[in-house]
Amino acid sequence: MAYPKEYYTYGQKCPVYEGPGVIKELGPQAKAFGCKKLVIVTDPGLAKTPVIDAVKKSLEDAGVAYALFDKINVDPLDTIVYEGEDFAKAEKADGLVGVGGGSSMDAAKSIAILMTNPRPLSQYYYSWDYKPGPPLFEVPTTTGTGSECTSYSVISDTTLHVKKVPLKNADMAFCDAELTYGLPPSLTAATGLDAFAHAAETMTGLIQNPHTDALCSFGIKELCKYLVRVVNNPGDKEGREHLMRASNLIGIGFGEMGCHLGHAIGQCIGAKYHTTHGISCAWALPVTMEYSAKTEADKVKMVADSMGLEYPENVSDEEIGKIVSDGIVQIMHDVHLQPMSEYGIDREGLIGIADIVMGDNCWPVIPSPLTKPELEELLGKCFDSYQ
Ligand SMILES: [Fe+2]
Repeated sequence: MAYPKEYYTYGQKCPVYEGPGVIKELGPQAKAFGCKKLVIVTDPGLAKTPVIDAVKKSLEDAGVAYALFDKINVDPLDTIVYEGEDFAKAEKADGLVGVGGGSSMDAAKSIAILMTNPRPLSQYYYSWDYKPGPPLFEVPTTTGTGSECTSYSVISDTTLHVKKVPLKNADMAFCDAELTYGLPPSLTAATGLDAFAHAAETMTGLIQNPHTDALCSFGIKELCKYLVRVVNNPGDKEGREHLMRASNLIGIGFGEMGCHLGHAIGQCIGAKYHTTHGISCAWALPVTMEYSAKTEADKVKMVADSMGLEYPENVSDEEIGKIVSDGIVQIMHDVHLQPMSEYGIDREGLIGIADIVMGDNCWPVIPSPLTKPELEELLGKCFDSYQ
């Protein structure tokens, strides 16, 4: 694989503690950062589970006080971020810990920015131009988003009615597979497929580097080995460890580069039909690989190699795209992913999202130009490819 640039910069943005039971390190590390009181930023469902008890215990054992802000929902609104900021300031917190999937971890990042910087949040979209905030810790409880190690804080702007992205890195992440033991198979599948999409899109994107490829390739190997296994046997603790590691390493890789067409389509399916992010992106991934193979066949071959797929030495660009696409469709079936029709999405409706896909924030980085009629054809194929 030849890389087009002469040099690269690699950034390990967020140190990671990884392993079953590692949540016990949160309290001592928060103390080492000088924190006396953290706000735990999470969602109302998770707040009632033993996951939050484990977070609290870690802080209690280290003598770090805490207050719970459990109002984060899927696709967190900027207004909830403001509420979280008010809460953290009223509690006189000197640190934050986001606990949950991407929504809670992303919201914690934006709250952290606002702790030391004025509103509105919109001035920090895609910007690093702000004062450093208090220590921010992240604790993922799903295995897909990788948000603990990306710079993205995806927030729903209630004025513009679109998702926007303030930029913020966490100071430390705690990737503890024990916190995912209760994750239902359907959510394990959806988040695992999201991680798969992050890796496959990052590896086939316009810009990539050897660091991201190594991380994403390893992550795909792990997902191919363990995702179906865990979805069909949720008590598989060893498999859960591997999924947590894969999600985190892919997150580091995709955080350096980013996704393209699959996420542009997936995010717009989610916006129109309110379907789960990982599922929406999974539906879009097979056709994304076929489209990518037209101009990025060597990169798609690397995805095939990571998946352990076999192909002839003289395979054509079109064939390698189809081989990878078929391999992904097989995984989607093996984790029991329902087709779009089961969610009330019809073919015409899906084709109708072409305009918003072309306005998505992932659209500008698609590997090769697509006209609207070409995109509409791809969307139709996307519907047909998974029934
Ligand atoms: Fe994603």
